[in-house]
Amino acid sequence: MAKTYEPDAAIELYDEVNIDYEHVYGNNQLKIRCIDKIISMLRPGSSQALDVGCGTGVPIAQMLARAGLKVVGIDISPKMVSLAAERVKEGSFIVADLAHWEPDTPFDAVLVMFCHLQMNYATVHAMFYKYACALSPNGLLAVGQCPADYYIQTKAEAAAYDETRTYAERCNIPFWGKPSQDFAMSLVGQRRFLESMGLEIVDEVVDVFRPNNPTFDPEYQQYIIARRPGERPISTPQPLPKEEQS
Ligand SMILES: C[S@@+](CC[C@H](N)C(=O)[O-])C[C@H]1O[C@@H](n2cnc3c(N)ncnc32)[C@H](O)[C@@H]1O
Repeated sequence: MAKTYEPDAAIELYDEVNIDYEHVYGNNQLKIRCIDKIISMLRPGSSQALDVGCGTGVPIAQMLARAGLKVVGIDISPKMVSLAAERVKEGSFIVADLAHWEPDTPFDAVLVMFCHLQMNYATVHAMFYKYACALSPNGLLAVGQCPADYYIQTKAEAAAYDETRTYAERCNIPFWGKPSQDFAMSLVGQRRFLESMGLEIVDEVVDVFRPNNPTFDPEYQQYIIARRPGERPISTPQPLPKEEQS
């Protein structure tokens, strides 16, 4: 059965997790390396970055702002947005659902990291397409996720994948110390999905991150930076959601 998109569940979860998210996940060297790499490819002073699902703003928005980039952050959790605004004074933070918020200016970088776990594929598909279309020429789209490959191992578990093995709407990824039924793409599925929009992958790291809480399992994480080549039009990502296939 297709998963429904329930933004209220995300608000409830992240309002409760609050500042603890930063204590447990803030010092993530894989994420920090990815942001450093993005900063090295942008122009401080003139580049504008969008942090989608910004959380407390640490480390993503904070590193981008400290590097001299103009940062806009959006998040559905009012508590997360007020923490981000306190921490990153130079940034501009908005309480908004990433599925509905419409960018009204182009961005040189859009970062979508671990904010789409609670979503279904139709929402993820529309969200990536919208933010890829908001990239300026040669703009960068960065994605951080827990790839499904490590959590779907048996033949029975593989039934969670769509028929192209691009994504699983219900994947048993550990989050906040508990197994969940969250959205994830396969390693190759995430790459092909970005390439299907006409983006070029310029950087990728897959490694293990250990949360700063001994009771939480280590997480496999994938970070990809993809570039829009010049002004190339963005194509509709593939595969289409089942609802849109005729
Ligand atoms: C796991 S945290 C990740 C924070 C940050 N991106 C990072 O990687 O450090 C996920 C964040 O996404 C936000 N989020 C979840 N669903 C959202 C939605 N529909 N619209 C906007 N933000 C959302 C949550 O409130 C939370 O702050």
